[in-house]
Amino acid sequence: MDFYTLFPDIQPWVASLQTTYPVTLLNQTQWGFAAIQAVHLLALGLLGGCVILLNMRLMGVGMTSATPALMERNLRPWLISGVAAVLLTGIVIGMLNPEKLYTSPAFFTKMIAMVSALIFSFAVTNNVARQESGVKLSPVVMAMAAIAFGLWLWSIGVFAVVEGVNPGTIHMIVAAFAILFAFGKRTRIIAAIVLGIIVVAGAIVTHGIYNLDDNYEMVLTTEVWFVRAAAVAAVAFMGYEIFTGTTEDDRGATVKLIALFSILSWVTVAAAGRWIGFS
Ligand code: HEM
Repeated sequence: MDFYTLFPDIQPWVASLQTTYPVTLLNQTQWGFAAIQAVHLLALGLLGGCVILLNMRLMGVGMTSATPALMERNLRPWLISGVAAVLLTGIVIGMLNPEKLYTSPAFFTKMIAMVSALIFSFAVTNNVARQESGVKLSPVVMAMAAIAFGLWLWSIGVFAVVEGVNPGTIHMIVAAFAILFAFGKRTRIIAAIVLGIIVVAGAIVTHGIYNLDDNYEMVLTTEVWFVRAAAVAAVAFMGYEIFTGTTEDDRGATVKLIALFSILSWVTVAAAGRWIGFS
């Protein structure tokens, strides 16, 4: 799945983007793309920090001495600046290489995940965080959360099935375990042991017993199953902690799930961004 498959008729417009002033000025330099991409990554760092701080707090961990409402208020200008900067720099580097993005499943995944992440951050988690005492999720906020979650699942689905891009799904699994290690008070040790066993067993099978040169297809298939095992373990431990655990000023399982998927949707955007270059 990519934008060319969905919108083949816009190809002349896509090609014209590269010849649009002032993008043409940047195209004449050696450093243009790299410089803007560096700012792109810095902006990602800024928005990523805001998203992680606020959503981990909604999950009941991190800066627990501050209320989510206070954190949302203080982080809001930084989040908006980060998002504005990453969008602006993204559009510029996108116009420097439009045809690559037009036919890139990784870029398609990124844009779907980005819409999901923007809805989570600006229509769901900000609303939830602003509620000082006791969380009431209005039907509108629940509907927006469902739309954002559906879009994220779609982006993950495309990410997981496209050959040459699907190794990128490992970023979301690693992020889920990282969140679990911070949030999962009762299972973080056993989760770390299980993840360790999966990684070591995978390495022994795909690099010890067999190797990529002689058994390419078999090693790739085996690696996919080890990644799936890690994904199942992450879902199982996270589900157990969210639905059976309680945290300080617990806001309930629904809010913890919303916060978790809000972080994972932004991780998906960043991971897909990285895989544009790899695919
Ligand atoms: C309109 C929105 C955006 C556009 C058009 C865009 C475009 C791009 C392009 C063209 C690249 C370079 C791909 C390559 O290597 O050739 C890129 C890389 C990347 N983007 Fe974006 N981007 C957008 C938004 C975002 C957002 C919201 C995030 C993060 C949350 C993000 C994170 C990244 C990352 C992590 C990379 C990889 C950089 C690297 O490691 O080299 N992008 N993006």
